[in-house]
Amino acid sequence: MSSPDRYAVFGSPIKHSKSPKIHKLFAEQTKQSMEYTAQEVPAEAFKMAVSSFFKAGGKGLNCTLPLKELAWAYADNSTDRADLSKAVNTLILQEDGSVLGDNTDGCGLVRDLTLNNKINIKGSRILILGAGGACRGIIAPLLELAPHHMVLANRTVQKSSDLAAEFCIFGDIEGCGFADLKRQQFDLIINATSASLNDQTPPLPENILAEDGVCYDLAYGNRPTSFVLWGMDHHAKKSLDGLGMLVEQAAEAFFTWRKARPKTKPVIDALNALRRFN
Ligand code: ATR
Repeated sequence: MSSPDRYAVFGSPIKHSKSPKIHKLFAEQTKQSMEYTAQEVPAEAFKMAVSSFFKAGGKGLNCTLPLKELAWAYADNSTDRADLSKAVNTLILQEDGSVLGDNTDGCGLVRDLTLNNKINIKGSRILILGAGGACRGIIAPLLELAPHHMVLANRTVQKSSDLAAEFCIFGDIEGCGFADLKRQQFDLIINATSASLNDQTPPLPENILAEDGVCYDLAYGNRPTSFVLWGMDHHAKKSLDGLGMLVEQAAEAFFTWRKARPKTKPVIDALNALRRFN
């Protein structure tokens, strides 16, 4: 019997990554012969670690913080969605030995919003908090669903205005600071800042969330993030964290590697069952 195909996630820190569990469940479900491990790889060791992995017969990699921009630079070729986000979370060994870079994060978010949570994007007013790497990857996939408009609000205003200018070909988008958000209301507020990681929430006006509005934090944890709690406090119809996006981006990566699309609901349910708050 041939040995299973090898995949891995590289990142730092990587100890608490849920990706090995997710891909194990996908592989069992779709009957794929593969193994998927997690490897601690700091930025300075990235190139060497990736080359060694593929030289030793590895078939594909996921790259997470702080390696996504490095992975984009490393790939011999990259998909349009990776080039737009200037970041790669999935590396795929091609038949000719070259390495293709892809970014499945934006697609993962859109699938979790629209398919799993039945949230309507078309015609909606979207606010994204933040203007860093996480924000860059989700703008185009959301604008492609034709929201009414999108506002990017960031602590450093220059970054949100630059990003809005870069993506204005995809739809109605404007960049500003948090203090400029007075009197506007939004149907969907997405937190793409890293503020949750420090239990902080960007300063937002009290009435900014429209009636029946939804909050979504790209971050996730074993407890509700500070932004998820903010959404609950502000009567969001749904206040979600990024666990569904995590599973969906993994499913999309799995699909690019194996050409088999796993069902995500049982995997999201399994991960949710391990958390205390669902
Ligand atoms: P990532 O790849 O996770 O997006 P990043 O590129 O470092 O990480 O971006 C972090 C984002 O979180 C930025 O938009 C940052 O705002 P600045 O551009 O002003 O630095 C935002 N951020 C981090 N901590 C924050 C806080 N406490 N309040 C508001 N915004 C915060």
